[in-house]
Amino acid sequence: MLLRIPQALTPEELTEVRRLVLGADWADGRITAGSQSATVKNNLQLPEDLHAAQQARHIVSVALARNPMFVTGALPKSVYPPLFNRYGGQTNAFGDHVDNAVRTHAATARHVRTDISCTLFLSDPASYDGGELVVQDTYGEQRIKFEAGDLVMYPGTSVHRVEPVTRGERLACFFWIESMVRLDAQRRLLYEMDMAITALRQKDLDQRHGNDTQAESPELVRLTGCYHNLLRMWAEV
Ligand code: NI
Repeated sequence: MLLRIPQALTPEELTEVRRLVLGADWADGRITAGSQSATVKNNLQLPEDLHAAQQARHIVSVALARNPMFVTGALPKSVYPPLFNRYGGQTNAFGDHVDNAVRTHAATARHVRTDISCTLFLSDPASYDGGELVVQDTYGEQRIKFEAGDLVMYPGTSVHRVEPVTRGERLACFFWIESMVRLDAQRRLLYEMDMAITALRQKDLDQRHGNDTQAESPELVRLTGCYHNLLRMWAEV
């Protein structure tokens, strides 16, 4: 499942994250690459122990935790602390690769299984050419270039790349999620069901003319039960 989360950062958060990371010292992106991806990775990455990286990471983490669409789409169990990269000039692309299945956070030695990969766009798309995130899917390639502040979630299992940036600079935040629900197909089904139940709940409330002291319809109660019972069957917590 590919999911777009619009405006995951507020304009103020976006400005602050950009200010923090653009003022810091960057390193070769291969510092976190596996042996296959190191051969195709050509970008810059912010070393994760920098103070600016920690501050920017905190802003992103707080924003994600309050976002209901992020939480229902990812059902996060564990999130690898967000990283930052930039593409432009001579370091401008990242060829086809699959992300490592397990990332180990150096500072804590904590393992995160990369069920979901995320990119949070931090540059105005009009300010650079190229730089699309291209994700291979069963029905072809998805070419993704979103507004600054928007986030895309895609399956960690997919082959993907970042096209060469031929003008300007593409700044982004990226990270991985270990989900309580390991399989993409199951997460997708739960997401669809959750969205439908949320819409039905609103209709149900409208029929009661906004009177939320009356009980929901019995059908809605049962459907909500089905959602939670599926989650109970599939979740590893
Ligand atoms: Ni990747």
